[in-house]
Amino acid sequence: MAASFDYCLFGAHVRFGAGCAFDLPGEIRALGCRRPAILMQQRMAETRGWSLLRDRLREFETLVFSAIPAHGSVELIESIAAQASAFGCDSIVAIGGGSVSDSAKALAMLLSEGGRLADHATRFTPPSTLEIPLRTRPKPPIIALPATASGAELTPSFGIREDGHKLLFWNRNLSSRTVLIDPALSRDVPLGLLRETGMNGLAHCLEGLYSRNRSIVADGIALQSLRLFAEGFADGSLDEDGQRERIVLAGHLSGMVLSMARSCLHHAICHVIGARHGVRHGAANTVILPFALRFNEQAAGALLAPALAVLNQVSGTRHESVADWVKAAALRLGLPASLSELGITEADLPAIAEQTMGERGLALNPRAVKGSQDVLSILRQAL
Ligand SMILES: [Fe+2]
Repeated sequence: MAASFDYCLFGAHVRFGAGCAFDLPGEIRALGCRRPAILMQQRMAETRGWSLLRDRLREFETLVFSAIPAHGSVELIESIAAQASAFGCDSIVAIGGGSVSDSAKALAMLLSEGGRLADHATRFTPPSTLEIPLRTRPKPPIIALPATASGAELTPSFGIREDGHKLLFWNRNLSSRTVLIDPALSRDVPLGLLRETGMNGLAHCLEGLYSRNRSIVADGIALQSLRLFAEGFADGSLDEDGQRERIVLAGHLSGMVLSMARSCLHHAICHVIGARHGVRHGAANTVILPFALRFNEQAAGALLAPALAVLNQVSGTRHESVADWVKAAALRLGLPASLSELGITEADLPAIAEQTMGERGLALNPRAVKGSQDVLSILRQAL
């Protein structure tokens, strides 16, 4: 049992259920807000879900940004912040996945603190020195309507891409104030893409179980989340709506785990791949996870044993390691299986490995990463 733990309950009002997205106007009013900036990706802007939602927002003055890119963009967020500030925006609505939620947090940071986004980023000096700037000005509230399984709507952390790097941030006042999880919104996300984001959520739980920041609280939520992910990934026993509902709900729980236990080496590698090559975070997670787990197994096998029991039990399998379970699930679901499929070549690997050595996730990994050769070996196995 952990001797101590340290986490924040972030004061979010969370609702889950079919149709709850349509209560968005009431939730904006409940926060005393009238002028929301609304962020989403182009794909969401073209859905029936958004057009129905937009009709219900007519009572508000809104500023809509519908071209948020994967991994966000510092330049774009700084431009949106200038427009939102001139508009007098008093709240932010994030509709979609992790990149939209993270961009909403970045916008809230700039609207309250001013300056350049990089001024507020976390600074990490290997092997384990972390400097998080104190930023205490009141933040505009974020209302999140997540449509994927990233769990980003709940976390106080976020990452935004700039020049092949991902700037990372942490501020406890930036997690969403209101969260409306409506499984109907995820129906517009292709099932393969939703499953990829599920692999990201799965990774939050598995890294949470062996993170140096793990706790008995996060462990319990992680195991419940893993059960739901395994049910959502099982084809045959549930219809598609049932699978989607499980994956979205599991993703939400995985966000709690990430908030409390943080992430490790696996996410460090995925952040670098996303920042350097623009690869979808879920796709990078799907490919890297089995090999990052294998690297950590000798140090963390006992901590992963309860996860293996849950995953095998729900899916009726007898895999000998969580890494084997993840690999088999990705294969069965037709998800990306190699870095080559994501457009990454052997020549790209040394630079990814080198850059990973400067990532914050290394500080909480259960097995020491001795040098870029360790990372390179994981990347070569995943190629
Ligand atoms: Fe993640």
